[in-house]
Amino acid sequence: MDPVRNPYAPGAGQRPPELAGRDRELQQFEVVLERVARGRPERSMVVTGLRGVGKTVLLNTFKSMAMQRLWGTGKIEARPDQSIRRPVSAALHMAIRELAPRHRAPERIEEFLAVLKAFAMRDPAAAKGTSHWSPGIEVPAARGRADSGDLEIDLTELFVDAASVATDLGVGIALFIDEMQDVQAADVSALCAACHELSQSGGPLIVVGAGLPHLPSVLSASKSYSERLFRYARIDKLDREAADLALILPAREERVEFTQDALDALYEAADGYPYFVQAYGKVAWDLAPRSPITVDDVKVSAPEAEEELAVGFFGSRYERATPAERDYMHAMAQIGDEPVATSDVAEALGRKPSSLSPARDSLIKKGLIYSAERGQIAFTVPHFGRFLRAQPI
Ligand SMILES: Nc1ncnc2c1ncn2[C@@H]1O[C@H](COP(=O)(O)OP(=O)(O)OP(=O)(O)O)[C@@H](O)[C@H]1O
Ligand SMILES: [Mg+2]
Repeated sequence: MDPVRNPYAPGAGQRPPELAGRDRELQQFEVVLERVARGRPERSMVVTGLRGVGKTVLLNTFKSMAMQRLWGTGKIEARPDQSIRRPVSAALHMAIRELAPRHRAPERIEEFLAVLKAFAMRDPAAAKGTSHWSPGIEVPAARGRADSGDLEIDLTELFVDAASVATDLGVGIALFIDEMQDVQAADVSALCAACHELSQSGGPLIVVGAGLPHLPSVLSASKSYSERLFRYARIDKLDREAADLALILPAREERVEFTQDALDALYEAADGYPYFVQAYGKVAWDLAPRSPITVDDVKVSAPEAEEELAVGFFGSRYERATPAERDYMHAMAQIGDEPVATSDVAEALGRKPSSLSPARDSLIKKGLIYSAERGQIAFTVPHFGRFLRAQPI
């Protein structure tokens, strides 16, 4: 059928034509926004899940919800080797720019921007003179606030000031952090401390995160009280009903239907994982001659969908691993699809567990595997074991 009208959207962070099966999380976030705006104590939200389950898309939807309530919003994507100081400055700059036109006292905005600039200029790279980056803020930097160089103190002061600007307008500020498991340990701790401080003063600023399944343990390793700061929403593959809706509703808009056994076959192939639902749906649409899309169309299109996933979803990640790391993952895949014991991986490879720690740690850092619990390891990418087993070593 007409590829131009194809509604499906496989791809990292691609907004799906229908955000299926996430009503509970959306409702929870509504409550968070409402309570925070009223100055009620409330835990912020952190979304966790495997690769491709829709964390980024959900975070973006949360951001739209906050914007609809006229909140100031900003978003960052954490990177393993980068301090959050600079990205946080840029994100809060965005948030304040959203609020500024509605604020009646321009000097309040200028005061805040001066503090924000001071905060930004304390970036370690800027201090060493290795960076010619400038935060793009016209006002002169303030002195003596958010510029101590201690991220915990500085973030706390910055957040308190930002929240107070939002309070003037009766709204809030939401800072979204994607790939939050990649925030450096020291920064996580500073971030939690700043959120903690803010939650005590009731300031309307929240940090909303998304990351891999081990994010809660990253946060609690850094600050034991992190569980009181964040409500964890683990999102997973879609159930049958939601997966069907994700396919049917966008098609219906284009007056296209699926037969029941086509939906059966699609669910079997995609296993409810949102990325796969979009990928199989997209190819089935393109190759089907007409509506309704039948089980034969799905069967004919499956190899092409798998090929696209092998390159775009699995392959791009596999490429990031070194030969030693690939061996490690192949050994995991041979053991099975459930989380596996690191000692079993070592045994399968005929190596001492300690000699494999570097490979394991760097796979964790690359976001390919995560430690489900102590001594256990699992793939962050759904169906990755199956992909590896089909791969020549
Ligand atoms: N609730 C949903 N219903 C239907 N499709 C969805 C849903 N959530 C996400 N998708 C689709 O799944 C794909 C992956 O989404 P997204 O990039 O948000 O996942 P992610 O969890 O952030 O993955 P990663 O860990 O790789 O960053 C996109 O193509 C998106 O359109
Ligand atoms: Mg993502």
